[in-house]
Amino acid sequence: MENNEDIVLSVENLHTYFHTTLGTVRALNGVSYSVPQGKVLGIVGESGCGKSVTSLAVMQLVPPPGVIEQGKITFKAARRGNGGWVDITALGRHSPEMHEIRGDEISMIFQEPMTSLNPVFTIGDQISEAVLLHQGVDRAEGRRRAIDILTRVNMPNPERIVDNYPHELSGGMRQRAMIAMALSCTPTMLIADEPTTALDVTTEAQILDLMRELQADLGMSIMFITHNLGVIAQMADEVAVMYLGCIVERAPVDDIFFDTKHPYTSALLQSIPHVGSRTQERLASIRGMVPDPYSVVPGCPFHPRCDAYRDKAELKGVCDGDMPEITAIGPRHYVRCYLYQ
Ligand SMILES: Nc1ncnc2c1ncn2[C@@H]1O[C@H](COP(=O)(O)OP(=O)(O)OP(=O)(O)O)[C@@H](O)[C@H]1O
Ligand SMILES: [Mg+2]
Repeated sequence: MENNEDIVLSVENLHTYFHTTLGTVRALNGVSYSVPQGKVLGIVGESGCGKSVTSLAVMQLVPPPGVIEQGKITFKAARRGNGGWVDITALGRHSPEMHEIRGDEISMIFQEPMTSLNPVFTIGDQISEAVLLHQGVDRAEGRRRAIDILTRVNMPNPERIVDNYPHELSGGMRQRAMIAMALSCTPTMLIADEPTTALDVTTEAQILDLMRELQADLGMSIMFITHNLGVIAQMADEVAVMYLGCIVERAPVDDIFFDTKHPYTSALLQSIPHVGSRTQERLASIRGMVPDPYSVVPGCPFHPRCDAYRDKAELKGVCDGDMPEITAIGPRHYVRCYLYQ
């Protein structure tokens, strides 16, 4: 799709299903995207659309009963062997290669900080674990680096915090500790899954600034997951909009906001407040509901909620037939919708 020189991660036609006793949840249905070198790819969509599963698949951490049914994930591992492409889908979850890639080349900030910080180890021990493991430094050096990195993420009083346990920190401090942990091995790629959702807006703004700054300094590539389009506007260079396990539109951030194509993207944009809207104006909400995860919607997954499908007679029997192909409609702008085919 894109020039391979400029990307660090490529995901092609990824299908991930959860085979549960109640039925199969098709969490990802043919997801394709790539993360450009040194850039931020934002992934946005409503709750349950598959954002977290996408990122867990890249780390080979999809929990059972989830399986990658089909598709390919390749990562340009700068520090492995000949510095070439690694086929992540071919590596087992517990394989030594995957252990090396996780926490050395790809780091992740998980959606819930309290579940990913270990309550029985100090912040310093958890941050220095990655450097002790992957870079073979001794404990004293590990602690010194932990204080260093806590300072970088603007943690107040890092010399004290380094010896604290997670429960002794506030939510914002925990989030900073998580970011410090993820950055401790200076990864090639950082995956941040809703890293600021639990924070107040002031702390959120600080953390976003900080991540942008660190990204520019370290030249990292970032996959940034959020349901918040305002955060996407601030953070992302390119954006993938997800709906029900599919990417429905993918484009540079300006095109997503100013040259919107997919009806779902338009609907998402109409549901956020903007400067200049009248105080009495009601925000639009997207008609209908996300279908339950066990059902399979024929055709375009968004058609039952789509205004274009409702209003245009010629789309009947089209959008509800086969899934539309993803089509390039401009440089780096892709859309999966019959209106553009
Ligand atoms: N362990 C699991 N077992 C069964 N189904 C799962 C499991 N984890 C995720 N799913 C299903 O996969 C789909 C995608 O979930 P995912 O967590 O990726 O959503 P998300 O976009 O990250 O949502 P949110 O914004 O709420 O975090 C959902 O339908 C969810 O029910
Ligand atoms: Mg999630």
